[in-house]
Amino acid sequence: MSAAELEIEGLTLRYGGLTAIDGLDLRVETGSLDGLIGPNGAGKTSVFNAICGLARGGSGAILLRGERIDLLSPDARARRGLARTFQNLRLFKEMTALENVLAGMHAEIGGSLVEILTRLGRFRSKERAAVREARDLLAFVGLDAAAGTLAGSLSYGDQRRLEVARALAGRPNLMLLDEPAAGMNPAETAGLNDLLGEVKARGVAMLLVDHDMSLVSAFATGSPC
Ligand SMILES: Nc1ncnc2c1ncn2[C@@H]1O[C@H](COP(=O)(O)OP(=O)(O)O)[C@@H](O)[C@H]1O
Ligand SMILES: [Mg+2]
Repeated sequence: MSAAELEIEGLTLRYGGLTAIDGLDLRVETGSLDGLIGPNGAGKTSVFNAICGLARGGSGAILLRGERIDLLSPDARARRGLARTFQNLRLFKEMTALENVLAGMHAEIGGSLVEILTRLGRFRSKERAAVREARDLLAFVGLDAAAGTLAGSLSYGDQRRLEVARALAGRPNLMLLDEPAAGMNPAETAGLNDLLGEVKARGVAMLLVDHDMSLVSAFATGSPC
């Protein structure tokens, strides 16, 4: 059997006396879209933090395409093709949509804003191609008209789409989506469903967590939300 995009074996993570993840096994195949459902507090975000390297000190093995990553830095994991979105959006609200996507091209998961802006400055002077690619990604998520809009001025649904574009900017093989439909109205959720279908068609594997069934089951059945 060939290596899966993501394999988790016996992942356990404790915060002091609280066991947030207890012996989780999980496998995500290349190019597939899988969902994890659980109520608030079940440990979903903790699983993502462990995969991305934002939560350290867990035990068990995490492999990307057959290679152990659980001792690597968040940046090193991102460079191996891992990207994520956050349950509580982490956009740079005082930067434009285009600048947010450019920031995502640095395969950043855990870096500081200063680091990202420093590298962004280098991009500005050198990389016209990066701007073109960022504009293409904005068009892909339906935000081409909003390139110059401050992220914080976008509607909530559009901010979530912008997070997807920023995550894609690192050219991931695997994207982790933490409650991407949270706070969306039904029309926005249906649009997100379509968008994630298009992401899948690009060959990007996705692992999606949510606290209710709607978005995850829409993918399982292929029906619109
Ligand atoms: N950094 C942290 N320190 C201590 N406890 C945490 C931390 N992050 C999450 N927890 C706790 O771990 C449990 C799982 O949280 P979380 O992973 O955020 O769940 P979910 O995303 O499924 O709602 C909760 O009881 C939460 O309070
Ligand atoms: Mg969560």
